[in-house]
Amino acid sequence: MNETAYTNRRTKLLEMITEGVIILSSAPTKTRSNDTEYSYRQNSDFYYLTGFEEPNSLLILSKTKESTRTILYVEPHSDEYALWNGAVLGVTNAQQQFLVDEVHNIIEYPNHIKEILRDHIHLYFDFLDDSHHLKVAQNSAKELRETRGVKLHVRTFGDATYLVRTLRLTKSHEEIEAIRQAIELTALAHHEAMRVCKPSMREYELQAAMSYIFGVNGVKSEAYGAIVAGGNNANTLHYVRNNDTLRDGDLVLIDAACEWELYASDITRTFPVNGKFTEAQREVYNAVLDVQLRVIEAIKPNVKRDWLQKYSEELLCQALIDLGILNGQCDALLEAKAHKKYAPHGIGHWMGLDVHDPCPYTDDKGESLCFTTGMVMTIEPGVYLRIDDESIPLKYRGIGIRIEDDILVTDEGCENLSSVIAKSVEDIEGMCRG
Ligand code: GLY
Ligand code: MN
Ligand code: MN
Repeated sequence: MNETAYTNRRTKLLEMITEGVIILSSAPTKTRSNDTEYSYRQNSDFYYLTGFEEPNSLLILSKTKESTRTILYVEPHSDEYALWNGAVLGVTNAQQQFLVDEVHNIIEYPNHIKEILRDHIHLYFDFLDDSHHLKVAQNSAKELRETRGVKLHVRTFGDATYLVRTLRLTKSHEEIEAIRQAIELTALAHHEAMRVCKPSMREYELQAAMSYIFGVNGVKSEAYGAIVAGGNNANTLHYVRNNDTLRDGDLVLIDAACEWELYASDITRTFPVNGKFTEAQREVYNAVLDVQLRVIEAIKPNVKRDWLQKYSEELLCQALIDLGILNGQCDALLEAKAHKKYAPHGIGHWMGLDVHDPCPYTDDKGESLCFTTGMVMTIEPGVYLRIDDESIPLKYRGIGIRIEDDILVTDEGCENLSSVIAKSVEDIEGMCRG
């Protein structure tokens, strides 16, 4: 992403408010145990507006009727820190690199904040931000209120994340390219898993085969904890133990994907451990695939996201009836939410800097948003048939299937960004044969 892209985002953000101060913090570091930390991942909203990946930094945007101001606070260079951890960018370099109005040492921030907040009415921040920096700002706002001679003071708190995430909803060309790159590497990893899988392997061996592909291709992080679930384990939606043995005749569901330049991909494929679907597996698989293809086909600008959810539930319910898993009229079963027992989760979610991109799903009136060009959403129907559920025909028990792709809304309709990943029964069996 070039620097102008970040400047444009900050400008757009400031256009969303009439006046006020917006404060966004970098992500905190987190202790893993004793004196070691989890690997650092920048806060997505902060990153979206700065492209800056260091901790202990702060972005402040302010706007009055007359002018705007953007300030970045960063960790200063320290020889001692550089010796142990490598150099930070520092104030001078940050000043050259970032197109903000001012860059300062983070140490200066408490001395500046009162002056920044003075004569502003609105203060926008992330309500979940529990950083010391934000407390300093809130305390300064309180002090200004009690200070004689201050005519205007902060009296309204606003949710900065809502504003930023509204912007994040529509992806730029560069963002889509990063997502494409994440998907390209994820495709390699899923195909590798299909090729190397064989009965008696452990689930974690498949996970390791995928992680290796990510690692040697320069991936810094996976987008979420991988799910590698053989047989009935696939019926635990958030199965992450990944330590069971993969059995001959079972399916394996893999929901795993990587991040590229902090942009996520999110892909699920379900395939036979021994490379060949049984008849019963094929029936359920094709039913789920048919739902997925029909839902994707329905995505285009002006379609409401809520409608798509409803449509996918109708398709899934009818598929469950056709398989003989549900009995009755589709409308009545939908009304009773009977399908939820076997298809409990939503059809998909926004995806971007976060795998579950926290962008709004509704407008200011609470109405479902319509798709517009540049939005990216996963489509991931699933059917989960527990091995111990005696209400399910015997041949289907223990089958859990999800198929997940990442879809970009375009002017013409949509593009499946992950269409190269083997998905039809024939393509999967072909890939499994190597
Ligand atoms: N991998 C998480 C999800 O599919 O939503
Ligand atoms: Mn997903
Ligand atoms: Mn997923």
